[in-house]
Amino acid sequence: MTYEEVLQAAKGQMGPYCKQCPVCNGLACKNTMPGPGAKGLGSGFIRNYAKWQEVFVNMDTICENRPVDTAFHLFDRTFDLPIFAAPIGAMKLHYGDKYSDLEYNEILVRACAENGIAAFTGDGTDSTVFKAACQAVEKAGGMGVPTVKPWNIELVKEKIDLAKAAGAMMIAMDVDAAGLPFLQNLTPPAGSKTVEELKEIISYAGIPFILKGIMTVKGAKKALEAGASAIVVSNHGGRVQDQCPATAEVLPEIAAAVGGKITILADGGIRSGVDVFKALALGADGVLIGRPFVTMVYGGAEEGVAAYVKKLGTELKDTMAMCGVHSLAEINGDCVRKM
Ligand SMILES: Cc1cc2nc3c(=O)[nH]c(=O)nc-3n(C[C@H](O)[C@H](O)[C@H](O)COP(=O)(O)O)c2cc1C
Repeated sequence: MTYEEVLQAAKGQMGPYCKQCPVCNGLACKNTMPGPGAKGLGSGFIRNYAKWQEVFVNMDTICENRPVDTAFHLFDRTFDLPIFAAPIGAMKLHYGDKYSDLEYNEILVRACAENGIAAFTGDGTDSTVFKAACQAVEKAGGMGVPTVKPWNIELVKEKIDLAKAAGAMMIAMDVDAAGLPFLQNLTPPAGSKTVEELKEIISYAGIPFILKGIMTVKGAKKALEAGASAIVVSNHGGRVQDQCPATAEVLPEIAAAVGGKITILADGGIRSGVDVFKALALGADGVLIGRPFVTMVYGGAEEGVAAYVKKLGTELKDTMAMCGVHSLAEINGDCVRKM
């Protein structure tokens, strides 16, 4: 299946809120939550996408004519591309009845691993979701990133035990999930974490730990102090707070402050291999892509994921070749301009 065929096949499969738009940019779903949109006015999602479109790539083809290399090295693993599928949870609530979280993660984790990248998996109030996600990661030889919500420390530790027993190569926590309506007023409580609490959690994990949901230099420095191996510059696709800047807007200042000291991943509105190139040029080491992978799974299951990864890889390689860079390490601020 081609990417376009998968997109067509997804029509009518994704519940009442997602419109399977040719470009997933937050306009048609805007402020639908439940659904794939964003909180409040929905501008968090729309702005994320729009700001990548204000970044342009600088062509330069006076260079050696040799193949480009997109190999991405992270924590003793090598991936074909600097791209992860982002964690997406509560599938039935947001995307209708076709897939449960368990089924979605099973397909996504396997298909990503088979196509040379890895998937993050979501967590939820239903404890079987995280368990099943860990099983999917185990079956994929540890090629997956279980993402735990900021529950109380005891529950977080239980989930870390599950992820480690599954051989997960790294563990993430979406610290910004403190802003999700469904996580409030729960027993045990979930919510924001102090640097001290994160230090305890990260040292307990003992494997690379990623803090997802960092949007300021201040937050990035706290993540570094807590001992995180990586951060994801992310506003949860606009789902946890309205009216915050786009990730493309805060990425350069965060990279200037902590780049080289901590691995920087970024997400939010990244849709093509060209967008991936731009994110790397603005200071990210790698990216996460969320909603488009959902469309690919609903339209073509494993084949859908394969088609999208192929498309992203081709676009990234083309852009690198046209901008005169041959490895990811060569992509820097000189490769792009903002208009
Ligand atoms: C329906 C939906 C559910 C999500 N669930 C989670 C989750 O469980 N954990 C998490 O860290 N992020 C979750 N996210 C946020 C994504 O991982 C990602 O940060 C966000 O969608 C931005 O990327 P995108 O614009 O490429 O989708 C969710 C996003 C959506 C749309």
